[in-house]
Amino acid sequence: MAVRALIGLQWGDEGKGKVVDAISEKVEMIVRAQGGANAGHTVKVGDESRVLHLIPSGMLYPHVQGVIANGVALDAIQLLKEIDALEASGVALRDRLTVSERAHLVLPYHKAMDAALEELRGGSAIGTTRRGIGPTYMDKAARTGIPASMLKQPDRLAERVKEEALAKRKLFAAVGVDEPDITADAILAELLPVAERLAPLVTNTVELVADAIDADREILIEGAQGSLLDLDLGTYPYVTSSSCHIGGLLAGSGIPPRAISSVIGVAKAYCTRVGRGPFPTEDESETGKRIGERGVEFGSTTGRPRRCGWLDLVALRFAVRTNGVDEIVLTKSDVLATIGEIKVAVAYEKGGERVERWPAGSGLDGLEAVYETFEGFEDDISDVQSWQDLPESLRALVARIEGFTGSRVTMISTGPERAQSVSCEGRAS
Ligand code: IMP
Repeated sequence: MAVRALIGLQWGDEGKGKVVDAISEKVEMIVRAQGGANAGHTVKVGDESRVLHLIPSGMLYPHVQGVIANGVALDAIQLLKEIDALEASGVALRDRLTVSERAHLVLPYHKAMDAALEELRGGSAIGTTRRGIGPTYMDKAARTGIPASMLKQPDRLAERVKEEALAKRKLFAAVGVDEPDITADAILAELLPVAERLAPLVTNTVELVADAIDADREILIEGAQGSLLDLDLGTYPYVTSSSCHIGGLLAGSGIPPRAISSVIGVAKAYCTRVGRGPFPTEDESETGKRIGERGVEFGSTTGRPRRCGWLDLVALRFAVRTNGVDEIVLTKSDVLATIGEIKVAVAYEKGGERVERWPAGSGLDGLEAVYETFEGFEDDISDVQSWQDLPESLRALVARIEGFTGSRVTMISTGPERAQSVSCEGRAS
């Protein structure tokens, strides 16, 4: 039995989609356990590129069964759009996609609240994707959310949407924000036909996944966002509202810890972040811009340019340790070519003191990264197929990552295509 979990080790956008794609050939079931339409990965269907926000990317393989599990913030309207677009391109999904009855619905008033809360935060705005993620989880935690099971009970759904839309209007009025023009009638006019079409997919996914585990099926839990955006262990308050750590993935799918056979962590060879918040290795110079250009670092959900900087080994070690990562896949290493000297942070300095551990809260303010440097390389490595043919400085960098984090790097991605990957297994260490 193999139940593997795939987790981003930075601030999201580590290239998890490519890794999922690379291993999905052998996977029978892919489970999405947290987050919502704030995530996005671009996939190629024939000659067309599509951005998927909710459908697990591995479902492009026709044998893979997809599960949108209980921890997901479910934008039902968005999901149906994705299903329809993929089906129009010839990817049949309906008979192999299920949605948890426990997933919470993202409704238009959540998106309006997301925008309003960001406005109210003013200069401290988080820079959310405005997909309604925070307010949906707020409702879930406040026990006023609407679970997807109600997509199967249109009368009850209508009743709850009316109650909640009214409550939200009162909330908007109370905080002095202009009420968005979102009435329960308008929401239901769009939602009820969607509910009718999605209802057959809504089921008890916890039992479905448990049966798949008992049947020894190959399962992959696909994490969204990244560890440093985790609600508990990330750079709070500049985080998302779900838990992107292994623990969140388990609670978000109902999979017991002992069922997990390995945790694969995905890290880019440098760092990016979208939205606000601490980023000790950010490089705002021409080099940082060049990394962004070479790595095409624009958010796939919002189109925003991503902030770019250097690999942070202190943060990476924190993510590896807290998730119990068994192996690291290092992505986008080709981007480092031609940018000159390569830096990695191994500690920080603050107020004349050396900081060796990843801090929390205000401990993250004003950190100056302490770097080690590696020689730059000029060669285009996008066609390299073996460890020995990688530039020496990149191999030294990989050895440093392993020594620092205590985890093995098993694969290095050297470009966006499936074949552009170098296995590090079997090398002399
Ligand atoms: P929210 O998840 O939309 O509430 O946004 C909270 C923070 O998480 C913002 O800084 C977003 O830019 C960031 N974020 C959310 N989803 C992703 C993602 O999939 N990749 C990268 N950053 C994300």
